[in-house]
Amino acid sequence: MKKAIKFFEQNQKKILSELFDFVKIPSVSANPKRKDDVKRCANWLLDHMKSIGLKKGNIIETELHPLVYAESEQVRGKPTILIYGHYDVQPEDPIDKWTSPPFEPQIRDGKIFARGVVDDKGQLFAHLKAVEAWLKTEKFLPVNVKFIVEGEEECGGDSLEKFLHKNAKLLKCDAVVVSDSSQFAPKVPAVCYGLRGICYFEVLIHGPKQDLHSGVFGGAASNPATALVKILSSLKDDKNRINIPHIYDDVRPLSKKERAEFANLPFDIKKYKEEIGVNDVLTEQGYSVLESTWARPSIDINGLFGGYQGPGSKTIIPSSAGAKVSIRLVPNQNPDVVSDLFVKTIHERAPKGVKVSVNVLGKAKSFIVDPESLLIEKAKRALENGFGYKATLIREGGSIPIVTSFSEVLKSPVLLLGFGLPTDNAHSPNEQFDLENFYGGIKTAICLYDELKDL
Ligand code: BES
Ligand code: MN
Ligand code: MN
Repeated sequence: MKKAIKFFEQNQKKILSELFDFVKIPSVSANPKRKDDVKRCANWLLDHMKSIGLKKGNIIETELHPLVYAESEQVRGKPTILIYGHYDVQPEDPIDKWTSPPFEPQIRDGKIFARGVVDDKGQLFAHLKAVEAWLKTEKFLPVNVKFIVEGEEECGGDSLEKFLHKNAKLLKCDAVVVSDSSQFAPKVPAVCYGLRGICYFEVLIHGPKQDLHSGVFGGAASNPATALVKILSSLKDDKNRINIPHIYDDVRPLSKKERAEFANLPFDIKKYKEEIGVNDVLTEQGYSVLESTWARPSIDINGLFGGYQGPGSKTIIPSSAGAKVSIRLVPNQNPDVVSDLFVKTIHERAPKGVKVSVNVLGKAKSFIVDPESLLIEKAKRALENGFGYKATLIREGGSIPIVTSFSEVLKSPVLLLGFGLPTDNAHSPNEQFDLENFYGGIKTAICLYDELKDL
């Protein structure tokens, strides 16, 4: 293992320039105009996997974006780990908020800035570089590895889900490893044992057959934008709870033990507010920030549209309006049930004179595992070796839809260990990845494979 670590330390410059090549490809999965870039990125990735010594690998075409699969030579008797990541990235807008162009990586203050650099290209790349370090020094890996990398994670696609069901044998493994989340804070590496699920909706309101003069018709014609805000504002109550009947029925309550553990983490509310640039937080009544974002359901408007958006004023009653709304789910909530409750409630609350429709754009279950497993013990040791700080246990509020399916279909334990930070601006302008965390991630992965050899 010493040789592998030395190899990576001596190759840091080259590794960085390779990561730059990876993030320069604008693999934005949500944008149909970028379909060829997404494909180019998949091909780049496969070529790179071959170049580091993974002999077997191929592109898997799907209905939308390709999957990339590669494996090391599979030696009998060694445990097999399946490493998952995604090579697609979020759209870069608003582009004018970036200090340097999103697909021209730049280093400032010890951080790499680029779209996708932490979510998830850089984190996935840390594993590739760890594999390379082993293969180019010891000529073997302590474990068998298989990589499955998707290009639809950020756009809610289900190609990997379908592939998984049909190819469970190919993906068979003793553990799944995913680096697509965060550490708790700088110098506080963490293993994550829970993620929230998600239901994503589009609410559309239709009113008059075309925009109307608001002076001529205002007072009589129903206004879809007004109807929309009425419905949306009814969805949260004054305790900051979701106001949809029965939505909390299945929510698994936080245990006393977990609440105590969360409360013990070094969380600084003042710093938190500063970091996100708000003067106050609005948590569910009776719950802390960590409890509310990790283990309680939440609802958010992700976007609103309708009516006049240009400069100055234009006096109209718009003919339509709409919103994108997401609900984050916690253990024991069923996405189908939550989705039905949402759709029913929206229809019930539709004011007179407008037509309401709801499209369900995506659904995914939450994820939770026992935090006291041998696998997690091993991962914590790897993190401590890789970063030089004590590792802790966390849950997180984001969603990685495929992880729950991995555990259900493959019946293998899933390990989430993120190398990024919550403040890395994932999905935002100026997405970043600390060089220190990138290198710490590579070292952690090198150590992790060694830890898992007797899994
Ligand atoms: N890597 C994130 C998920 C994540 C974020 C996990 C923070 C833990 C902490 C992933 O790429 C992501 O953004 N997922 C989406 C899923 C959605 C598009 C179905 C999310 O959480 O919004
Ligand atoms: Mn991600
Ligand atoms: Mn993401």
